[in-house]
Formats: sequence, C-alpha cells, structure tokens
Amino acid sequence: MTNEAIITKLSSAVAKADAKGLEDLRVAYLGRKGVVTEQLRAVGELPTSERSAAGAAANHLRQSIESLLSERAAELEAASENLAPIDLTKPGSEPILGHHHPVSLLLEDLTDLFWQMGYQVVSGPEVETEWYNFEALNLDTDHPARDTQDTFYLEGGNLPRTHTSGVQVRHMELNKNKLPIRIVAPGKVYRNEDEDARHSWIFHQIEGLVVDKGITLADLKGTLEAMLHGVLGEDTKLRLRPNYFPYTEPSVEMDATCVVCNGDGQVDGVNCKMCGGTGWLELGGAGMVHPQVLRNAGIDPEVYSGFAFGFGPERIAALKYGVDDVREFWRPNLNFLEQF
Ligand code: DAH
Repeated sequence: MTNEAIITKLSSAVAKADAKGLEDLRVAYLGRKGVVTEQLRAVGELPTSERSAAGAAANHLRQSIESLLSERAAELEAASENLAPIDLTKPGSEPILGHHHPVSLLLEDLTDLFWQMGYQVVSGPEVETEWYNFEALNLDTDHPARDTQDTFYLEGGNLPRTHTSGVQVRHMELNKNKLPIRIVAPGKVYRNEDEDARHSWIFHQIEGLVVDKGITLADLKGTLEAMLHGVLGEDTKLRLRPNYFPYTEPSVEMDATCVVCNGDGQVDGVNCKMCGGTGWLELGGAGMVHPQVLRNAGIDPEVYSGFAFGFGPERIAALKYGVDDVREFWRPNLNFLEQF
C-alpha cells in the first residue's frame, strides 16, 4: 500500500473512532509493530542510495498519522464537554401536548355561540336508562322508530345513549319550576351502525331545548339559521323538511348547503362525495316539543311550549374543514388532527 493509500484508509477509520478506537489505531499505526515502525525498520535494509528518501517518506507518514490522531482526540474532547450537567436555571422547552380535535373546536364554537344567545351548557350521562333515552320521548318498547337507533344494551337494561335527547327530559324535570329553559347539551352517543364515510358507531350530538310561553316554529328557524351562519358563514343556507320524530310535533329535518360543492351537487363534473350530489347536507332533526314529553317532565303544555333540536357536530366539522370521511375523526392520527 502506498503511503497515500494508508493515510486515506486511516482518515476514514479515525473519523468514526471513539476514544478507545483511537487508541487502537495509534497502536496499529505508530506502535512497536505498527505500520510506521515497520517502514522505518525496512529503511535500514535498503541500499544506501535509497535510504534517505525512504526515511524521509516514513517520517512524513508518521507526522501525518500523528496529526490525524491528535485532531480527532481534540474533537472527541470537545464533544464530551458538550455533555455538561443540566443547567436548571435555563428556561424549559415547551412540552408537546397534542392538538385540539376538530370536533372539540367546533363544539367550542357552537357552545360559545349558544352561550351568547343566552343558553346554558349542560350535560347528561352517557349510560342512560330506557326511560330517558326512549320512553319519556314517546318511544315505547315496540315503537318502530327504535329500530333506527339500535345500540349496544348493557346488563340490567341501561344503554349507551343513542342520542342526546334524553337530556331534554332530565333537565325539564329538574327545572320545571324554574322556567324558561334555554339549554344546549353536547356529548357522545353510540349506535349499532355500519360504518361508512358519513356514519360511525360513535359520534357526537348537540341537543338544544327552549321552553317558554309562546315559543313557535319561527323561533326555531331563526335560531338554527343564526347557528349555521355563526359556524359556517353567512352564505350558508338552511333548509327545513317535514319529518317525523315521536318527541316533536311538528318535526323537521334540517339541512345546510354543502360547502364542498357550494350546493351545486357536482365537483369537476362528478357527484360531490360529501353530499352525494344533492347539494345539501343533512345535519339533524328538530321540532316543537311534543305535549306528552312536556307532561312527562311535569310541565303543562297548555301554558308552555318549546322547540328542540339535535344534530351531529362531526357533520358540521366535516363541512367546515372539508373532511370527506367522518371516520377520520375517530382515528388516532396526529398528522390528520394537526391540520386544524
Ligand atoms: N334525537 C334525534 C336523532 O338522534 C335528533 C333530534 C330530532 C333531536 C328532533 C331533537 C329533535 O331534539 O327535536 O336523530
């Protein structure tokens, strides 16, 4: 091997060496049986005319090796000084606490909005009795509308609530002597659903209830419009369609214009994936509280009337943030969540 090749080889070994490796290299190159010593020894066996040049070359090699080794030793020492003890007087580094979930952000927007309209924000239990979840809402055991809200029953007959509507009756019962009532109740609900881009077995709802003298459907419509404009912008349109819920009479279904396709139903010539081509997105149900539901809670329907609504914030969050699959909201994917 030429001296140049020796230096090249050593340079790359030195660059990767730690203190122990560096010592091994020193022994291998400069030690008694090292490369340089061998070369110097060989000089003595050369013809006199060649000795001086060979000696100079061997010495030059030794110097190059020494400086390579001492440079690396200095580097290692500097690095070990950087591992100085922790300075407790330094300002701390900010902990990574994750990210607000888009549905939480939206629920915060919504509850803020209703709070500004004079609503109280209340909650109810996620494990509910059949009475509050169904029967007090005119959904008797054999009522066919129970089929649309199949769920996972628990031993003893209680169930993970299928909607937040049970909170209406609970709250009215407790506050029947403190009318009027103006509440919103956000929370999780559970259903036995086949999952797809618009359905998940767990989702949120936000329930609303107003009970006072002289409340009409016009109050409901104005409230829902104010809510949509507040969270989705002034251009969003509200559509109410007649529907049936056992706990409201009359009942309506509320739709908002789809913000993915702006209500066109089409995106680049194909049906909008978000609204299925209709231009509208179904947000939930609403209506005038059924007189029997008021009676079930101990309120006289001859004196008081009310409206109620319930809808899914995932749908609205999907609209607002342009998410085309609500299942994303339940996947623990920080890359997804950090976009909001
Ligand atoms: N509970 C209904 C559901 O889960 C939504 C709903 C409809 C709530 C009408 C209401 C209402 O308060 O009045 O589909």
